Amino acid sequence: MAAAVEPTPPAPCCATIKGGGDAGFPCRGRGGRCVKDGWEVGVRCEQREVRVSQGRSFHHLARVLENPHSIHWIQARLRRGFGKNLKGGCGACVVLLSKYDPVSDQVKEFSVSSCLTLLCSINFCSVTTTEGLGNTKDGYHSIHQRFSGFHATQCGFCTPGMCMSLFSALTNADKTDGPEPPIGFSKITKFEAQKAISGNLCRCTGYRPIADVCKSFAADVDLEDLGLNTFWKKPEDANVDKLPPHDQGKICTFPEFLKSEINSSMGALESSQDSGLPECQWYRPSSLEQVYKLLNSNEFTERHVKLVMGNTGSGIYKENDLYEKYIDLTGIPELSVAKRVSKGITFGAAVTISRAIEVLKEKDNTVLHSDGKLIFCKIADHMDKVASPFIRNMASLGGNLIMAQRNQFASDIATILLAVGSIVCFQTASGRLIISLEEFLKLPPCDDRTILISIHIPYWSSAIDSSSVTSKVMVSVPENDSSILFETYRAAPRPLGNAVSYLNSAFLAHVISDKISGNLILQNIHLAFGAYGSEHAIRARKVEEFLTGKILTASILLGAIHLLKETIIPKVGTRHSSYRASLAITFLFNFFQPLAKELVVAEKINNVDISSVATLTDYPNGKTNRSEDIMQPRTSKFEQLCNPNVILSSKQSVEFSTDYHPVGMPINKVGAEIQASGEAIYVDDIPSPKDCLYGAFVYSTRPLAHIEGITFKSTQASQKIIAYIGAGDIPKRGENIGCRFVFGDEPLFADSLTEYAGQCLGVVVAETQRYANMAAKQANIHYSNEDLEPPILSIEDAIARSSFFDLPPAIYPKQIGDLTKGMDEADYKILSAEIKLGSQYYFYMETQTALAIPDEDNCIVVYSSTQFPEHTQGVIAKCLGVPENNVRVITRRVGGGFGGKALPSMPIAAACALAAFTLHRPVRMYLDRKTDMIMIGGRHPMKINYSVGFKSDGKITALHIDLFINAGITIDLSPLIPSAVITALEKYNWGALSFNIKLCKTNLATKSAMRAPGDVQGSYIAEAIIEHVAAFLSMDTDSVRKQNLHTYESLRSFYGPSSGDASEYTLPVIVNELTSTASYLQRLGMVQYFNNCNKWKKRGISWVPIIYRVAPRPTPGKVSILNDGSVVIEVGGVEIGQGLWTKVKQMVAFVLGQLWDDVNLNLLDRLRIIQVDSLSLIQAGFTAGSTTSESSCEAVRLASGILVSRLKSLKQSLEEQMGSISWETLISQATMQAVNLSASAYWVPENKLDYLNYGAAISEVEVDILTGATTILRTDLTYDCGQSLNPAVDLGQIEGSFVQGIGFFLYEEHVENSDGLVVSDGTWTYKIPTVDTIPKQFNVKLMKSGHHEKRLLSSKASGEPPLLLASSVHCAVREAIRAARAEFSSNDDNHSASTFQLDVPATMPVVKELCGLNTVEKYLETLASSQGKVEA
Ligand SMILES: Cc1cc2nc3c(=O)[nH]c(=O)nc-3n(C[C@H](O)[C@H](O)[C@H](O)COP(=O)(O)OP(=O)(O)OC[C@H]3O[C@@H](n4cnc5c(N)ncnc54)[C@H](O)[C@@H]3O)c2cc1C
Ligand code: FES
Repeated sequence: MAAAVEPTPPAPCCATIKGGGDAGFPCRGRGGRCVKDGWEVGVRCEQREVRVSQGRSFHHLARVLENPHSIHWIQARLRRGFGKNLKGGCGACVVLLSKYDPVSDQVKEFSVSSCLTLLCSINFCSVTTTEGLGNTKDGYHSIHQRFSGFHATQCGFCTPGMCMSLFSALTNADKTDGPEPPIGFSKITKFEAQKAISGNLCRCTGYRPIADVCKSFAADVDLEDLGLNTFWKKPEDANVDKLPPHDQGKICTFPEFLKSEINSSMGALESSQDSGLPECQWYRPSSLEQVYKLLNSNEFTERHVKLVMGNTGSGIYKENDLYEKYIDLTGIPELSVAKRVSKGITFGAAVTISRAIEVLKEKDNTVLHSDGKLIFCKIADHMDKVASPFIRNMASLGGNLIMAQRNQFASDIATILLAVGSIVCFQTASGRLIISLEEFLKLPPCDDRTILISIHIPYWSSAIDSSSVTSKVMVSVPENDSSILFETYRAAPRPLGNAVSYLNSAFLAHVISDKISGNLILQNIHLAFGAYGSEHAIRARKVEEFLTGKILTASILLGAIHLLKETIIPKVGTRHSSYRASLAITFLFNFFQPLAKELVVAEKINNVDISSVATLTDYPNGKTNRSEDIMQPRTSKFEQLCNPNVILSSKQSVEFSTDYHPVGMPINKVGAEIQASGEAIYVDDIPSPKDCLYGAFVYSTRPLAHIEGITFKSTQASQKIIAYIGAGDIPKRGENIGCRFVFGDEPLFADSLTEYAGQCLGVVVAETQRYANMAAKQANIHYSNEDLEPPILSIEDAIARSSFFDLPPAIYPKQIGDLTKGMDEADYKILSAEIKLGSQYYFYMETQTALAIPDEDNCIVVYSSTQFPEHTQGVIAKCLGVPENNVRVITRRVGGGFGGKALPSMPIAAACALAAFTLHRPVRMYLDRKTDMIMIGGRHPMKINYSVGFKSDGKITALHIDLFINAGITIDLSPLIPSAVITALEKYNWGALSFNIKLCKTNLATKSAMRAPGDVQGSYIAEAIIEHVAAFLSMDTDSVRKQNLHTYESLRSFYGPSSGDASEYTLPVIVNELTSTASYLQRLGMVQYFNNCNKWKKRGISWVPIIYRVAPRPTPGKVSILNDGSVVIEVGGVEIGQGLWTKVKQMVAFVLGQLWDDVNLNLLDRLRIIQVDSLSLIQAGFTAGSTTSESSCEAVRLASGILVSRLKSLKQSLEEQMGSISWETLISQATMQAVNLSASAYWVPENKLDYLNYGAAISEVEVDILTGATTILRTDLTYDCGQSLNPAVDLGQIEGSFVQGIGFFLYEEHVENSDGLVVSDGTWTYKIPTVDTIPKQFNVKLMKSGHHEKRLLSSKASGEPPLLLASSVHCAVREAIRAARAEFSSNDDNHSASTFQLDVPATMPVVKELCGLNTVEKYLETLASSQGKVEA
């Protein structure tokens, strides 16, 4: 067929997007348009309908085509609150893509990550966003309503993506031909429903309520097991009728007109397959010939061209320049087929991973021999753990293998397909080749003209001779005497949630049973390993040869392991290389263990079935060496080892207080539905004003250097630069200031000297955000180190060079008692022990963003996602050299803050304002995730040296601490950190406590407050010391903990008046109650029993208490009643997901409601809280420290009280005249009588209103000694919330902060390079918890403690303190490791078994290293030595 190298006329191309702006859409009867001809890209801001067809509106077409990069662009214009991590790693931008097949008349629907999906690739598709499911005008979808009713949104930024992942799963489940579910339910199972969101990140909720929403649709759910919600009051009342109905099929995901259009243009479509869209340089050839014609034509050879399939690879390898042309390979039929042939299955390279899974599991495969079926199923199961559903739906097998071959990508697909002897077919400029995957991977990286065509997976059977499909000579054996073993493995930071493995492997072996001896002989072994830091997946040939023909014994296995160690050698520079190498041994052992008689016997002794006592999962029992057992699928066993598939369960225990109705009620979060439907407006959803420009930071990559100049590479992207704004652009009367707090200012730009890697040097301004981001990457920064000292990059450097910030004496914490005396009283002392703690990144889902719009008379309006509008205004004014009243900062809601949008948000707002001021045009910035992670500092790293004295019964008598806090380059609010550390540390009675604190100034990004700043470290340090003392005394840690808990008297001596009255000290009650209700002692025994019975898995259980001091701050509030009786409220606090608006509304409703005796006044519906506006409500302060909700509530309580007092007498006199009156009458009369219906108040807390919060948690974990993976089996948490203002909101805060704490303690590795540049700079390398990593059983109790006169309606804070309780997980892991070390240590080495430092975070490599990287070898050596010699 002739190729259309210069395609004219352009192909018709259309797509619809459902959901979005204001106009309607035909298929839902909401109007809309249907332009039949001409190029028209209906991607206008206000359009729901997106059509890309021939003809008219070139302007809009041009806009899309300039940015053919992703459909994300459309969503931005459609005002979606989508995440912009742009790596496919967060799921916030998931939409449903529907494709219509005119031949079968079927529509296929699947979720995709819109940030990676190229606009032109959705030609003739339909897109449904969450707003397309339902919205404010048309009514919400049941998914939206359930998100709201189950309290499953907080900041709401992740929610649209969550909704669409769930919707996609429900849509596809309901299409299956499984049995009809009971009315009201979907066909989905609760496990599938929970798994649907496994690739979606949420930083706020802790996932439990989101999992409940998902499970509420599942036919096999017991509704009573679902958590706190507004659909029923008690679990016993649970009934599907009370839920918003699941109405499958209600949403039309593919409009009829588009079907008709496709049907009517089929011929045209086919003939246009070889055409392209010249303006966007998008080509969709229909044959390889055409591809090569295009590639070889002059126009292409000189251009920046990309071959593309699903484009998910751009989520891994960031593009460094703009592409001029794209060639979409998915239109080539040969590449898209999946063919079952007698010798296996051949997949075209464009077949997606999801489609491959379907085909591998298809029922037609039943014709295969059971071995073959099993292998296909196992391949499919492994593929199911690759990335996430919304990536797998677009990601092709071919794209994956090309990246594995060309880019050394750590592919799973390559490894598993290698193990089964797959064959690939590919084409180069010189011809077509068919070779084994192994040979393909070994070739030099293929050039960009090589096209992978297909992958053939051979069909394996013990009954056939498979030698025809591999180069290896294989033995054909009668079926009955042999079997095939196949297994795949992967160890990844998160079992299901979008994480590439540290190492993956797949093993295949023929096993022949020797009829005479009964022994099993190994034949034809394939051992494939990948992702461990090798160039590509490999076969361990030497090991295979060594094992072939052998009967497995411990010594043979040991010999194989020795050979394997010589094979699996990660490249220099690979992180955790010894850990990765040890995983190879682990997996090999796991695979072969059942074949070796003596291993099975040994294991059987150890692996007693303890299912009767285990809390959740059992350790897989010993395996037999009978061949029929071997042939059984082992998936369930290993999957249980990984344990990701357990359905979460939970219990919430809350008491509602009706004293101050509606305060105290668990009402739905304000705005939850619009968050779910995507209508909630975040800063970047505000439509761009006319002539808006976009900025991106250029930052330094050196820690300390002179900046001699900045030039830009000559690339496509750099041509897009409109302006570069730097320090030189600051107005004469302005200042180079980017941030300010009471302790000092921070510059906006490094001028001639950069002082840390990540420091802002300037802003590139361009016409789109993508252009700006790409252009900023083209900067060449010219550095010089002349006359400069080496940078200070660590606490040790800072100590050596005495680089410290001053700590104001007024806030230096107070020492307690006499240290010398305390030490003298001690029976034992531990001197100079050390603890180190790293940083943590905020990982708010909405990265830093601002929009600045110049206004008349030298004024500027800045929309900023900030927790601190007041100081943002001040910084902008100072930077621009204008008075503060020229600057209006507006913040409606923030997509997650956690402290990172307090001070760190200011430079972004200031930079936008400066650029807008300079260019006289609106400028907006939305930081990409990488820039955000590099520039924004995060939690303070610390180093602690301690000396502790204690009695022989564990009572501590004295503690001295040298505390070094890494503050980074500027002071920020770091002087507040020491007292937070010490306050949290003081949760135990240390006898005498002294400290020496230094705030280290280093050449690193400034560290700022992150949720529970300092407190989380202080609380952890306390636990580490307690555990050290316990280990030293060989006592159990609990006794030492209990021994050192405060009495009320000692509490007062440590905390002074903050401790309140004796009755307020609820911690002892909490601890007693929790330990008894959670059956702590009984479970402790069960854990010990489990550990005695199991060699390769150990459990640990631990509890921790916390004491957390908070201090409310002055806050303003304003309540105004409008003529119609509706009420508008302004508060100083910003809604950052913490539920502040909800509590404030409840409070105003409560106070205004006091005018009536009737509690059903339903005032809540009349109240609206509006955005924070720095010129409307001054002295707003900042939203932080867990107390802004209550402070804002106090302010509006006062303001509402003023209104009540103004209205009360009027109401009385009206009632005397008219009898009972309505709210509307009262207000209209008040208006007529000129009553001032607006009241403001500035609440200033009394002196010493700070108070203590108490809580405790018990966590039980299971550690896999072989991989280092931790599963949190169960957490029980009790928190004293006083009389909660809204128990649902507080519960959300508690669970969410606990899970964020799990991230700190187990998962989040904050890594810098030798220049201090953050290298864990995206979702790829920085792993926050996902739904599969939270406690499998999560029970939370809100304790309702008594009346507290001084606190707002007796309530207490909930936002930060529970984060500290996550250290219970860390402590439990330590207990499990201790058990493992005891198991594998020699008897005379008990001390080192129990005394060790477990780092934070306790990641898989850290845990495994402490358990022993070589435990398997040691174990085998012991067995082998009892047999005789070791084979090698
Ligand atoms: C968040 C995330 C998590 C992931 N996790 C995993 C994981 O755990 N394990 C794993 O194995 N993979 C993982 N992946 C990788 C994923 O499987 C690949 O990105 C995907 O398979 C690539 O397919 P694609 O169709 O999107 O390729 P594209 O992105 O379109 O292409 C990738 C590259 O291959 C080239 N190319 C594509 N097709 C061909 C062809 N037929 N011939 C020649 N060149 C071609 C393209 O030019 C491009 O350079 C993950 C990806 C993401 C984004
Ligand atoms: S609610 Fe999920 S990220 Fe905020």
